[in-house]
Amino acid sequence: MYLTPIQEKILNGEYGWVYAKALEMIVKVGEVLGADKLIPVKHVHVSGVSYTNIGDYGLEFIREFYSKGGFAKVYTTINPGCVDLTSASKLISNQYFNKQYEINNYLEKMGFKPTYTCIPYLHRRPVLNEHLAWGESSAVIIANSIYGARTNREGGPLTIASALTGYTYNYGLHIDNERIVNTIVSIENIESKYYGLIGLWIGENITNKPLVRKTQLDYNSLKTLLAAAAASGDHALIAIDKVTPEKSFFINDSVERVSIDFKDIDKYLGSEPSVDSKVIGFIGCPHLDPKEFIDLYNYLVVKYSKNCKLRSNLLISIPYVYNKVFSEEISTLRRIGVDVTLGTCPIVSILTEKPDYVLTNSGKAYFYLKKHKGLELRICSISEIINYMCGSG
Ligand code: F3S
Repeated sequence: MYLTPIQEKILNGEYGWVYAKALEMIVKVGEVLGADKLIPVKHVHVSGVSYTNIGDYGLEFIREFYSKGGFAKVYTTINPGCVDLTSASKLISNQYFNKQYEINNYLEKMGFKPTYTCIPYLHRRPVLNEHLAWGESSAVIIANSIYGARTNREGGPLTIASALTGYTYNYGLHIDNERIVNTIVSIENIESKYYGLIGLWIGENITNKPLVRKTQLDYNSLKTLLAAAAASGDHALIAIDKVTPEKSFFINDSVERVSIDFKDIDKYLGSEPSVDSKVIGFIGCPHLDPKEFIDLYNYLVVKYSKNCKLRSNLLISIPYVYNKVFSEEISTLRRIGVDVTLGTCPIVSILTEKPDYVLTNSGKAYFYLKKHKGLELRICSISEIINYMCGSG
């Protein structure tokens, strides 16, 4: 791999152990993959920070980089961890609060922004064709597919290495040749509330890069579709007709064409909970953006004013920064019994209760909670979840 004189100096330790180690990690991975050089990145999103995932080994890895003087070279955001950072959630266990706090503390002291969210584009919007080094599959696929930026799906340690050096390896989705669509998927008459299911189907059935054709996709349906496809498959770029910027992907001369309708995806829907089932409603995977949060808040408050008393736990997962910008709305929701959790990934958290059923609008949550936690799930729209919670669904 070609290295510039400055990169050689970093690798040789002239700027200290931390930066040599971090660059070595990136160079080694790049060489294994056949990358020709390193490229600078504008924004790093660090994933793999949950104590339940990385344990003491991962905590030690981060502590070492911090204690030996590591500091971010570029703008860096942080994915959510495994505890509610406001300690108000009853459904998310606080068991590992101190461990998670320690991890977060080291990351912040290294200059990483305390965003604790899986929607880092909330804090900084990617720019067309800029290079990023992002972890968190749901964010990566949005950066590539909606904003036309360029990032591979990086693992947690490599994102830290990129944050400290400002580089990644020139490979995969950073290169035009790897951004070629080979399949065109047409969606036939499927309601937007089922877009998470379409994402699950694409993840499981399409192995190359698809272009999805459907003219009226709203942003929230797209976010759900992309996150689900990145969970059930290894997708990091799905071109969306009339959404993905033209110069960020290319179409192969001979494409395969498939179309899907509801009967292809209804197997993911899940069965209805019985009347005596213990149910949790879960909304916010990926985290709710400000509009989604305010729409949900307004819907719930109107319901409450019409005597809705939540009959079951409703868990809502949002970015940590809403603690400041939506503090009144969060207090109101908590007063009416909604479990609002901030800076948390409920999927990797420990739940204090085991439900019989989870109602969710998220295909990604469906995939992980079913596969890794063995829970029963039902995919619904957000209004259907709330109506169920209020006894009117
Ligand atoms: Fe976010 Fe966790 Fe879902 S990181 S996308 S809430 S699995």
